[in-house]
Amino acid sequence: MSDQPHTARIVLLPGDGIGPEVTQAAVQALDAVARRCGRQFHFEERLMGGCAIDRHGTPITDETLQACLAADAVLLGAVGGPQWDDPLAPVRPEGGLLRLRKALGVFANLRPVRLHPSLLDASPLRPERLEGVDLLVVRELTGGLYFGEPKTHEVRDGRRYAVDTMAYFDYEVRRVVELAFRLALGRRKKLASVDKANVLESSRLWRQVALETARDFPQVALEHVLVDTAAMRLVTRPSAFDVIVTENTFGDILTDEAAVLCGSMGLLPSASLGDGGPGLYEPVHGSAPDIAGQGIANPLGAILSAALLLRYSLRLEEEAWLVEQAVWGALASGARTRDLGGTLSTHEMTRAVLERL
Ligand code: IPM
Ligand code: MG
Repeated sequence: MSDQPHTARIVLLPGDGIGPEVTQAAVQALDAVARRCGRQFHFEERLMGGCAIDRHGTPITDETLQACLAADAVLLGAVGGPQWDDPLAPVRPEGGLLRLRKALGVFANLRPVRLHPSLLDASPLRPERLEGVDLLVVRELTGGLYFGEPKTHEVRDGRRYAVDTMAYFDYEVRRVVELAFRLALGRRKKLASVDKANVLESSRLWRQVALETARDFPQVALEHVLVDTAAMRLVTRPSAFDVIVTENTFGDILTDEAAVLCGSMGLLPSASLGDGGPGLYEPVHGSAPDIAGQGIANPLGAILSAALLLRYSLRLEEEAWLVEQAVWGALASGARTRDLGGTLSTHEMTRAVLERL
């Protein structure tokens, strides 16, 4: 793709809360790098999440799904907010995101956590624990507890009853574990497969498949870590982790924990990938309704997600690197939004990045 003129088509789903503010910043970064490197990106913006419920009665319309499937990549802000949180509501913003992930077949969610040295003081952990933190969580994204059947909420024998199911087929485990092994090969060659095999059948299958897959990757050191131990180790010895691969819900929980290691959730990007097809890129932070509309959200998680989009969906490694360097440079110069103890607005922080592109 990089040697041919090609207008990459990117669907934007700014979503709710601070989603539109940070997505706009990411688009500015993409525009800047496109100008600098002579690329062309075509953006198509659509509603997804609570805003789509308000407009269409559904968090994602079929047309929006089709547009995403036909794109080269999808860039998402965030979804959700208190006005759509009623537990009795028939539709929820998050349902749109889950439907999109499933439709795109993006079974692997990559969440890299790298600590910028100048942010040591922003982290809740002591600096000596943070030295060398550079980990990548690969979260299974289209199966497990989020999608397993049965999934119901009903009245049984006069009692309210609800059930979710953690279920996996071997191939669902294999494809995500295999990708994690391949990513580990390009890094420090360590893979921690996180499960709850002392209790859960689905985890015992997960562990078997991880062991089988390991035969194809003799250069990578595989260890199995129980999820409770992994949660503890993330705060006691985070630098010992290289790549972590885990079930959907475990990954959801562990990545929020891992995110605060580097000072703020607002910094963390993610890439969701499948077998070919468009990737889905979104910051790990949520819609943050408490600060929405104030222009103070940290745009770096979204901008770094745009960098991942350049790398994985458009195969524009140099452009991805330029964006990451610009973010790193802005942080090194002391630019900080409020979540990092600074005073910069979203706009000013974005400008600090754009100046370096
Ligand atoms: C995330 C979010 C989502 C998830 C929500 C918004 C459905 O928490 O991407 O981590 O649970 O996957
Ligand atoms: Mg989450």
